[in-house]
Amino acid sequence: MLSVTVNGEEQDAPEPGRNLLSFLRFDLGLTGSKYGCGEGLCGACTVLVDGQPLRACMATVGSVVGGSITTIEGLAQNGDLHPVQQAFIDESAMQCGYCIPGFIMTAIGLLGRDASPSSAQIREALAENMCRCGTYMRIQRAVERASGQSGGSA
Ligand code: FES
Ligand code: FES
Repeated sequence: MLSVTVNGEEQDAPEPGRNLLSFLRFDLGLTGSKYGCGEGLCGACTVLVDGQPLRACMATVGSVVGGSITTIEGLAQNGDLHPVQQAFIDESAMQCGYCIPGFIMTAIGLLGRDASPSSAQIREALAENMCRCGTYMRIQRAVERASGQSGGSA
């Protein structure tokens, strides 16, 4: 039987062809990763695999065996939010919140590659995540805050 690591815990993955987002949401009950388009276009389902953003709606469980998956549920440590989560709160970046886990995971992926991205680099990294509520400016400011920029420039 296959197993995958999700938020630091080994999980049995009996069906390698199972859609990764369905596996996370329905088999493991990790519903923070959202289903938006189901076609790789909106980013609501984004998780990290070995620190890199991946659109879970487009992946199978079998494709991530051997990788370490992190979902939004795995970010807080000992009751403390991840700094990017806290920055989203501090900038009141959410309206309905549906898109936010995907934005946060995408932003963490960016900051893992470059701890001090420019505003333009942040915009580029987030460009393919969609927010129906249109809070893009606040999201931009939140990621700028998380990257150490003061008083976001978006
Ligand atoms: S639900 Fe995966 S990209 Fe939209
Ligand atoms: S806050 Fe509602 S979809 Fe982004």
